[in-house]
Amino acid sequence: MTGFNEPAPTQTALLLLGRGTDAGSERGVDCPGELPAPSDPNLVERARAAKEALGGSVFVLGHHYQRDEVIQFADVTGDSFKLAQQAAARPDAEYIVFCGVHFMAESADILTGDHQRVVLPDMAAGCSMADMATASQVEQCWEDLTAAGVAADTVPMTYMNSSAAIKGFVGREGGVVCTSSNAERALRWAYERGEKVLFLPDQHLGRNTVVRQMGFELDDCVLYNPHKPNGGLTAEELREAKIILWKGHCSVHGRFTLDCVEEMRERKPGVNILVHPECTHEVVAAADHVGSTEYIIKTLDEAEPGSSWAVGTELNLVRRLANAHPDKEISFLDRTVCYCSTMNRIDLPHLVWALEELVAGRVPNQITVDPETAKHARAALDRMLELP
Ligand code: 13P
Ligand code: SF4
Repeated sequence: MTGFNEPAPTQTALLLLGRGTDAGSERGVDCPGELPAPSDPNLVERARAAKEALGGSVFVLGHHYQRDEVIQFADVTGDSFKLAQQAAARPDAEYIVFCGVHFMAESADILTGDHQRVVLPDMAAGCSMADMATASQVEQCWEDLTAAGVAADTVPMTYMNSSAAIKGFVGREGGVVCTSSNAERALRWAYERGEKVLFLPDQHLGRNTVVRQMGFELDDCVLYNPHKPNGGLTAEELREAKIILWKGHCSVHGRFTLDCVEEMRERKPGVNILVHPECTHEVVAAADHVGSTEYIIKTLDEAEPGSSWAVGTELNLVRRLANAHPDKEISFLDRTVCYCSTMNRIDLPHLVWALEELVAGRVPNQITVDPETAKHARAALDRMLELP
């Protein structure tokens, strides 16, 4: 097989990878300590030594989109569902170092005991999709649904990619959290309890799941825009909809277009298109296989030697998979670089800094959720973890 074809770099992607400076992208979050220089030749050794010194008191979780330099130090790697399960299953670890993004670390804090501390090596590791729904916007939406007379028959549901406050709202209103690996099961659970679902904040995961896996028509979905009065919908539209989708999306997965799929099929006849369900509906409809990052890994592990694949998800993961399967032809679905810039915030210097702070007896960048929010968010997370 030929090696992995690197997509063409873009100026923004290089900036986000730290090969330039863009103060605006820091979003006002600075590292509160002294970061080791990225050029320090001893970073790998320092990370290893700090982990060894911490022993069983630390457990490092790594999301599949993390950089290779970070993922090598993860005790467990996974999609967001597996990482939530793993966080809940490690009561002996005093420190959970979460190499992922903010909403994942918040969920870990909610699912771990009071004696455990969750650390996010870089506080700027957020998620632009999660930021597309604020708690006050969601409260306003619920008021709109109440005024239209539909709230009582609606079960709110949120994708894991949302703040703890939104998970808390959903838990308080009897709803459930889902991830891309259990969205269908969670939706079926919700429709056993109500006539409608309010799905937050990823319109694509919601639409793709009900249309692809549950036989809904596109017309059964309406889109609630939090920036418009009444979400831009009439009371009649809210009453007729089977699912009310929040107008949020992932900009990384939004990069994959129908053109990318068609061009790939032309360039590589026989290619299998494998994408994440955060891609748009037209991309998902044109793909051959759709699933979470864990599903993508499993599908490629089980693929026939010699088979050809184009994968529509974050580039760190796709490159790692291509290197792990030299007997299969694995390409990136977009022609240009497409990293999740916030996942990439966690680099080896930040990880070394966080681990060395723990060795020194200080807890850096601790993620805490207030007890009232955590109580309701936990109810929604527990419902997800208990799904059949
Ligand atoms: P997974 O749950 O599939 O890992 O997805 C998380 C995520 O943020 C994808 O963009
Ligand atoms: Fe958020 Fe998209 Fe990055 Fe996932 S890939 S963490 S949804 S911005």
